[in-house]
Amino acid sequence: MSDQTPAGGPLFAPCGNLGELVKDIDQLIQKVTVMPVITTIADLKRLHKRRTPKMFYDYAESGSWTEQTFHENTSDFDQIRLRQRVAVDMTNRTTKSQMIGQDVAMPVALAPVGLTGMQCADGEIKAAKAAEKFGVPFTLSTMSICSIEDVAENTTKPFWFQVYTLKDDDFMRRLFERARAAGCSAIVITLDLQVMGQRHKDLKNGLSAPPKFTVASMADLATKWSWGLQMLGTKRRFFGNIVGHASGVSDPSSLASWTAEAFDHALDWKRVATLMEMWGGKVILKGILDVEDAKMAAELGADAIIVSNHGGRQLDGALSSIRMLPAILDAVGDKVEVHMDGGIRSGQDVLKAMALGAKGTYIGRAFVNGLGAMGEAGVTKALEVIHKELDTSMALCGKRDIHDVDRDILLVPKGFEGEWA
Ligand SMILES: Cc1cc2nc3c(=O)[nH]c(=O)nc-3n(C[C@H](O)[C@H](O)[C@H](O)COP(=O)(O)O)c2cc1C
Repeated sequence: MSDQTPAGGPLFAPCGNLGELVKDIDQLIQKVTVMPVITTIADLKRLHKRRTPKMFYDYAESGSWTEQTFHENTSDFDQIRLRQRVAVDMTNRTTKSQMIGQDVAMPVALAPVGLTGMQCADGEIKAAKAAEKFGVPFTLSTMSICSIEDVAENTTKPFWFQVYTLKDDDFMRRLFERARAAGCSAIVITLDLQVMGQRHKDLKNGLSAPPKFTVASMADLATKWSWGLQMLGTKRRFFGNIVGHASGVSDPSSLASWTAEAFDHALDWKRVATLMEMWGGKVILKGILDVEDAKMAAELGADAIIVSNHGGRQLDGALSSIRMLPAILDAVGDKVEVHMDGGIRSGQDVLKAMALGAKGTYIGRAFVNGLGAMGEAGVTKALEVIHKELDTSMALCGKRDIHDVDRDILLVPKGFEGEWA
């Protein structure tokens, strides 16, 4: 099962498509709503909560079981402090860098997030457009609502495509072919979801496909009028990469049985190598949280690895990504490009990860908060907020170029990585 809902049908099935009538709904909403001044990701999160059905907001803002790892991903960043420096020339600053050889305006990519098109109509297209305009990579999830082709048609630059490790070779081959045809410049293979961690909120909210609506969820939906209007204006309400593409899945109703079978519980490193060969282009391996696994990934010749625990949605009780980052960098930092995600809610978090030695970072919930709050403009706002915090904090640490940022600007508490037996 994916990091999604049990799949099967349209996640939201309004009675018709109002097309053009609600096409400009984003602008309409902005006209009729008094916009608060947004200065942080937390501001966007508040708006996201207000505008999106609880079922989908909770889907994003949750971790598995006790949510310990989900929360520690963020709180562990707070333990690291920055070293203030003064009387240093701060002119001509730059956050420009590269991730897997691709120029980026700052080393922050949009992480693959399933069901993004449920946070906001055509969500993947809107997020991809915002990323493209800002100059950072967008990663499309296999379990997106908008398809690979939808995103390619609405953007002009290559994006990255994330795949889960599925058993069906034919489907994987076709997925890679479609990604190639769409001009995707890298694939991200997610390794930490052979089986799915349980998120209590999703079960309680009836997040399944089709959703199990309760009186409470219907009442909640009725108050999220702008979300509903936008959904009426799009045809994209299914898993766009799956329905009509996986063999035997010609309509949403046959999707549930397919997903139950599709995920490869027998995944091993040999299979990872086969998938990398099948793709034949740049590969990023996602979900690495252990030194031994990082060594295996580096040995396979991945272009990059992402130190990640799936945003605390899989193995609850695992260490936070930022806490595991130094040990993994020590082990493989000279052999493979090391990226990280999990818990990034500000540009200062990006700065800390980069100072520890990461070559790139990803944001998941931070951009989803923006999308749920204000559509494409919200994703742009999330990127602007993070960029500003990164740039200003870098300057106050006495650095002008993101490439010069190193461990020297950090104050890491003794024993931060922990001593675990
Ligand atoms: C709602 C949601 C859905 C996700 N779906 C996927 C997915 O389809 N594929 C994947 O590889 N990771 C998925 N992830 C994990 C993200 O790619 C990323 O690892 C995580 O969000 C990073 O943590 P952050 O949200 O604290 O930034 C998802 C995360 C969230 C929050």
